[in-house]
Amino acid sequence: MKYHLLFSVLMLASTFGLVFSACGGNTTAASDSTTETEEPQSMIEDEPEASPFGVGPVQEEIVLPEEIDQNLAAKGKELYGQKCVACHNPERDLIGPSQKGVFERRHPTWVMNMILNPEEMVKKDPVARELFEKYNKVMMTNMNLTREEARAIMEYVRTF
Ligand code: HEC
Repeated sequence: MKYHLLFSVLMLASTFGLVFSACGGNTTAASDSTTETEEPQSMIEDEPEASPFGVGPVQEEIVLPEEIDQNLAAKGKELYGQKCVACHNPERDLIGPSQKGVFERRHPTWVMNMILNPEEMVKKDPVARELFEKYNKVMMTNMNLTREEARAIMEYVRTF
């Protein structure tokens, strides 16, 4: 009985010992990796434009509801016909890319920033810059839309 107790105490002690040494090990490892990753981290900070939200007036996450709002999409369709069809076609690439399936490729916040703030996006966002190169360096026009108008157009784009 006594031996059993002693054994348990020893087991406990060694378990703690292990835990402590494991913690110690982790702490050292963590601080080591912090020192190692300091350089790349500061490089990322120099490029805040690499955000999936893009750059522009929209900072918050735009969430698209599952169901398409048909009323909003109808408003968007009208605006799209006035402001976007000169360069975009729902089905095929024109002066700019077709936006079919754009929300599978890009975050809705990114799309809204692209509509509201194309010049800065092309200048600072790597994805927008790549598109700019691909589409013959044609700068997408800033149509000076309100957020509500941009949001309506986005709803229409979802119906493509
Ligand atoms: C003068 C032509 C032009 C007009 C007008 C225009 N765009 Fe564009 N758009 C482009 C081009 C060109 C690109 C590719 C990026 C670049 O070169 O600026 C683009 C890119 C985009 C993208 C990114 C597409 C992707 O695949 O990621 C979206 C979204 C977009 N436009 C939406 C719109 C909407 C909505 C309107 C109307 C309010 C509009 N654009 C008006 C030319 C235009």
